[in-house]
Amino acid sequence: MFLCCKDEGKLTQEPVKPMVKYDMYQPSEMADFMNLMYAYNQQLKAKIMDGEVPNSMSLDLLKLHSAEMTDGKSRSQNWKSFVNVFIASQEAVVDTLSNKNLKDRYNEAINNCLNCHKTECTGPIPRIKKLLIQ
Ligand code: HEC
Repeated sequence: MFLCCKDEGKLTQEPVKPMVKYDMYQPSEMADFMNLMYAYNQQLKAKIMDGEVPNSMSLDLLKLHSAEMTDGKSRSQNWKSFVNVFIASQEAVVDTLSNKNLKDRYNEAINNCLNCHKTECTGPIPRIKKLLIQ
């Protein structure tokens, strides 16, 4: 919850806001969905490492297009250029007909999380890196 984008550096560049704002911190719809994606991929990683072949996805990735972001932030050009590549790669992990190695497909999806985060939201990057299968 406290690993939101603002944790890294950004705060110092912004005007000081009253502390009470932090006590009332309410994750946005998008932040909630990001945490759901995190949990989903954590489970996916465990399954893959156990030798299972996942064949269905419980996430509604179209939420990435509709969910409200923190402070009503809008989607940047960077966001738009990364989001569909990410969605395709996350879907490819459960594509049982793919002839690409499962671990590679999974890591590709996680690397696409990271690609977007490099420009959009750097705070959670160390946590997302832990999802990679070494
Ligand atoms: C297209 C860009 C993009 C992609 C792809 C993306 N993210 Fe995010 N992520 C964001 C943005 C922007 C936010 C901030 C959302 C907000 O504050 O409303 C965010 C927030 C987060 C957060 C912090 C949520 C919180 O509690 O504040 C986590 C954790 C996270 N993402 C994990 C992931 C994981 C894991 C993936 C891949 C499965 C992923 N993200 C893919 C852009 C992206």
